[in-house]
Amino acid sequence: MRTLTDIASKAPSSQASGAEPDVSEDSARAREELRGRIKGSGPLARDTEASSSRGAAGRSQAHESAIKHVTGRAAYIDDLRAPTDALHVALGLSPVAHGRLTRLGLEEVKALPGVVDVIAIADVPGHTDIGPVFPGDPIFVEDEISYVGQVLFAVAAESHRTAREAIRLAVVEIDEQPACLDPVAAAQRGEFVRPTHVQQSGDWEQALASAAHVVEGEQFVGGQEHFYLEGQACLVQPTEDEGVIVHTSNQHPSETQKLVAEVLGIPFHAVTVEVRRMGGGFGGKETQASPWACIGALITRRTGRTTRVRLPRADDMRATGKRHPFHNRYRLGIDDKGVILGGELTLIGDCGYSPDLSDAIVDRAMFHSDNAYSLGEARVTGHRARTHTASNTAFRGFGGPQGMMVIEAAMDDIARRIGEDPLTIRKRNLYRPGRQMTHYGQQVDQIALLHELIEQLETSSEYWARRRAITEFNAESPIVKRGLALTPVKFGISFTAKHLNQAGALLHVYTDGSVMINHGGTEMGQGLHTKICQVVAQELGLDTEEVRITATRTDKVPNTSPTAASSGADLNGQAARDASRKLKARLFDFAHEHLYRDQGLDREEMRLEAGHLIAGHGESERRIPWGELVQAAYLNRISLSEKGFYATPLIHYDRNTGQGRPFYYYAFGAAAAEVSVDTLTGEYQVDRVDILHDVGDSLNPAIDIGQVEGGFIQGMGWLTSEELKWNDAGRLISDGPATYKIPTYGDLPPVFNVKLMEGHPNSMASIYRSKAVGEPPFMLGMAVWSALRDALASMTDYAEAPRLDTPATPERVLLAAETLRARYTPWPLVEEEG
Ligand code: MTE
Ligand code: HPA
Ligand code: MOS
Repeated sequence: MRTLTDIASKAPSSQASGAEPDVSEDSARAREELRGRIKGSGPLARDTEASSSRGAAGRSQAHESAIKHVTGRAAYIDDLRAPTDALHVALGLSPVAHGRLTRLGLEEVKALPGVVDVIAIADVPGHTDIGPVFPGDPIFVEDEISYVGQVLFAVAAESHRTAREAIRLAVVEIDEQPACLDPVAAAQRGEFVRPTHVQQSGDWEQALASAAHVVEGEQFVGGQEHFYLEGQACLVQPTEDEGVIVHTSNQHPSETQKLVAEVLGIPFHAVTVEVRRMGGGFGGKETQASPWACIGALITRRTGRTTRVRLPRADDMRATGKRHPFHNRYRLGIDDKGVILGGELTLIGDCGYSPDLSDAIVDRAMFHSDNAYSLGEARVTGHRARTHTASNTAFRGFGGPQGMMVIEAAMDDIARRIGEDPLTIRKRNLYRPGRQMTHYGQQVDQIALLHELIEQLETSSEYWARRRAITEFNAESPIVKRGLALTPVKFGISFTAKHLNQAGALLHVYTDGSVMINHGGTEMGQGLHTKICQVVAQELGLDTEEVRITATRTDKVPNTSPTAASSGADLNGQAARDASRKLKARLFDFAHEHLYRDQGLDREEMRLEAGHLIAGHGESERRIPWGELVQAAYLNRISLSEKGFYATPLIHYDRNTGQGRPFYYYAFGAAAAEVSVDTLTGEYQVDRVDILHDVGDSLNPAIDIGQVEGGFIQGMGWLTSEELKWNDAGRLISDGPATYKIPTYGDLPPVFNVKLMEGHPNSMASIYRSKAVGEPPFMLGMAVWSALRDALASMTDYAEAPRLDTPATPERVLLAAETLRARYTPWPLVEEEG
């Protein structure tokens, strides 16, 4: 029997020493295997049927909705049935980036036949500011306009088409003002959405002054559109009192409940928010799913009718925030071996017009500006610049990727300065014994794992043999240049806002023995619900299929945290286990009292396994089927329902001192990527990728491998092809799939070896010693960017790595190549004979 880990790792690694890989065969095979997995007919499906001797947790099992996903039977918001008189909403968006709204004439909008309701700021009975953490996000523009796409008003009509037609009839007069789209200029003027934060360890100025060399540089790191396949959507139903039920594609149901209640001016208990699943969230539905629910709820309460809000893709891309673009600078003192002694990092996050989650995002960028390397004595400064774009928000990695990019740029630059291979420099600078303390005062645990992981990947990816082959190839190849890079990832797991690190669960056992679990987390494709079912099945000794999960609902588990920070399985898994263990203890007490006491069986030896309650051992072993146990407990009036709770211990962070232990633990990984670049056109391809990733003891290797593959590809897309373009007036012009290029199936590297690190359980007491997997692999994509720089550096005989802002589109790669060619390559390109 093979597991998914085996499939991923068995992908051929044929081109050991520079021979051209047989791309077509490799990719055909990879695709075939992928197809098998998607159909559920491949090794994964077989593995699901395997015996449960190991218990439900830790086994590769298909996603709980896998078959529904691929047969189209999984219901997304737009698939939910609504009454025939349901209203459809369209939004009137600002065409201007900055100015004052001087007139909003909606008479003709209201008059269009089929239009039922039109609302703007004056029609909101309760709160008008729906900022999630700090104020600053008006539900509709009052007078100040802050970005193109900001919502001015909403129309509800009998059909979506009518609603959209009506939008065009509005009379909008705006006193336009100059827009600022440049975060660096904003920072220079002190235009911030939140105050600057600083983290500092030791005497960074002294470290710089005493260093053998000082390396410095700057970079622009681009933003990213979430491009969830299901756009922002919700369906709001009236209840018989003054409340609403909101079905929404949403990572944070409790926050939406709160905001809807506040906007309507009703108690939280009158609002129920339900999320069955999302067609992707990626952070884009942590705070920015709420406005649409609030607007839908307003219309439902005013009209008494069910209301649908569904943003067309272009509206979605204009109205909602994205990954924060960053401008980073570094100045680092190094010794003559290239080891960092200390220095200064300055990060400017482009937050857009309002705070949203930017404080926590820029903090996380700062927490990750070391990536896996000791910065020595360093000062890290994080600015939160205000610009006239949509309010930038959570996106897989939550600022971490943008922060890491500065130190990865520095690693390559140090390597060129010292004249050593970038991997050598990276390894020298890793956290290591004696250099284990981060610049924010947390000790990095499991450094042996980090070193071992990199060494294993170095071997399995045949780094040094390929390095030699690539150097030889490049010496002979004037136009096409190949590059290779191996980059690590260290990612801190926990919400940095301490109070969010809590979760609840609700467990019901019915009298037929079937089990229902509900918890605070939401399913966005990442497989959280599958993992939670596995946890409950493991605790109760059942098969995963016997545990059913229900939609996330604020009236089942209240006051929940967003499903974010990769913590969904960590937090909710513990809460589900807590509920299971409490119920189990009650069943054991009951069984001991009523069923086994007269047989002299020990309460402490009872266990739930393979669908039975088992007591005693050997000769004296007694077994009761789960269904019988449940029946007996019910007849004896024992409660078969339980709730669970969990709060992460140990973590703290003091923003006044910039010191603490914000993360319960770190997750590690590394990727090696090889690229070839046509230096006359800037076009390039990724030839091979090898990944080794740490998930502790995996809860579900198949799902974790999927997260690693998807995260890597999404990270690669961010750094290579996904380019957001605004025109000078602040209008997003890359507002659809034709102009904004996400990676597609064809962008899978032809050789793509993905493995999970084995034999290293989490050193902290996480759920079954697993580790979070959602975000960390995203940053493995940095290897591709660094490999591009490596290919370009070959044009300078590795004397210099060119600045390469991201996304490193062919255009940017070409410009970098042209600059280098002008400086380093004597014309003609190909030497003449004789
Ligand atoms: N995987 C899929 N398929 N779809 C998603 O939207 N979001 C990512 C990651 N993986 C996402 C995903 C992000 S941003 C986070 S924070 C985690 O999943 C959240 O889920 P978890 O905490 O359960 O891992
Ligand atoms: N990660 C993701 N989402 C968040 C965080 C975080 O650290 N803090 C608040 N929301
Ligand atoms: Mo993920 S960005 O924390 O939703």
